[in-house]
Amino acid sequence: MAEVTIEKVAALCRRRAFVFPSSDIYGGLGSAYDYGHYGVLLRQNIKNEWLRALTQEREDVVALDSAIILNPQVWAASGHIGGFSDPMVDCRTCKLRFRADDLEHASCGRRPSKHPGETPDCDLTEAREFNLMFETFVGPLRDTQSVAYLRPETAQGIFVNFKNVVSSMRVKPPFGIAQIGKSFRNEITPGNFIFRLREFEQMEMEFFVPPSEAQQWHAYWIDERLRWFTSLGLRESNLRIREHGPDELSHYSSATSDIEYLYPIGWLELEGVANRGDYDLRQHAEHSGTALEWVGHDERYVPHVIEPAVGVDRSMLAFLCDAYHEEEVAGRPRTVLRLHPRIAPVKAAVLPLIGKDTAMVEHARALYEDLRRVMTAEYDDSAAIGKRYRRQDEIGTPWGLTIDEQTLQDGTVTLRDRDTLEQERIPVAGARDLLLERLQQPWSPAPHE
Ligand code: GAP
Repeated sequence: MAEVTIEKVAALCRRRAFVFPSSDIYGGLGSAYDYGHYGVLLRQNIKNEWLRALTQEREDVVALDSAIILNPQVWAASGHIGGFSDPMVDCRTCKLRFRADDLEHASCGRRPSKHPGETPDCDLTEAREFNLMFETFVGPLRDTQSVAYLRPETAQGIFVNFKNVVSSMRVKPPFGIAQIGKSFRNEITPGNFIFRLREFEQMEMEFFVPPSEAQQWHAYWIDERLRWFTSLGLRESNLRIREHGPDELSHYSSATSDIEYLYPIGWLELEGVANRGDYDLRQHAEHSGTALEWVGHDERYVPHVIEPAVGVDRSMLAFLCDAYHEEEVAGRPRTVLRLHPRIAPVKAAVLPLIGKDTAMVEHARALYEDLRRVMTAEYDDSAAIGKRYRRQDEIGTPWGLTIDEQTLQDGTVTLRDRDTLEQERIPVAGARDLLLERLQQPWSPAPHE
């Protein structure tokens, strides 16, 4: 099987309107990307699946959408103003900037086969702490009083709403608050396509539990989140759990396990599942003067927090890498995205075999109108049928429905399966229900892959 590389995935993403370099016509902006039509649909499906798994399939998690720019005191209380920094070094020779704690993954500007500091010419400065938060100003004046920050994580918007949620929703620990939204970090070394960005989207859930149950819920959410990824088609062999060592833990965490994915560039963090203890609620209670605790009939305590936190962009990259396949079919190369049908941007393509045949076009349009009421579907009558199939394969459409001469005679249509390439004839009248049923069925990648 051909090797999957980030470059190949990025090229397909650009060619097929998943991901474009941002501000492209101005030469781009380092590590910023825009999402095209299929990228938007894929991301929306990933986010919908996440929210559905938490707020629809369970009854102990509620949703929230907090502001991006919060009162700056939030970030003083959370520890981000004081501690959300990476050590940075500059090289006086090649003028590049590196993360001092990650030199083994960086390349020297003059001799890329070496790490910074490894050649006699390298002249690195002392490491200095660099705060990753983006600053802005609220209101017309630009002074120290008006400084505000773009949130570097969505989590704090959840903690500062703890009291609002507890008093307005029927919740009782253990319960969770889930939020999806943009976060911003002035990363020193962004890169690897959409793996590390300065503007990215997170899906975070803070699960509030009685302190004595924290460890058990931590283990539970690691398993649960792993199961979510495999249920959406990521191969188990490409996923692993890695526990953080004491020197790696974030300032708020008492234990963190990463769910790592085997990206083409190696095993890297896909999701973090942290035990944040009572750090955040206590910090915000102290700084705001508002009690943030659970008060039951005969109990009162500050809940501990278990936090599964994952990036939408990083999930998207993992789903794309896992799904990307190059193969030969009948002597011709084929690139196909074997995405789980539930996250595939388009579920069905309706194709009249001969695009100029009025009767075929009429039947195809009718079927397309029927399908698109309940799922994302595309109608395509351009180019030769093989070319149209290849396009759909590259955007990961699981089912193709081809209207041909026989359709006009007996009301059946060819259903082509993206993965097996098998074709079956089904009645046009039953196509919509059949596909809806298939969408609900479990799907997993072929075992040999
Ligand atoms: N609230 C906890 C928190 O933010 P994190 O490990 O820093 O924890 C959680 O971030 C997830 O957000 C990561 O596992 C990753 O998927 C995603 N993420 C973090 N920084 C990112 C970046 N610069 N670009 C893309 N995704 C990022």
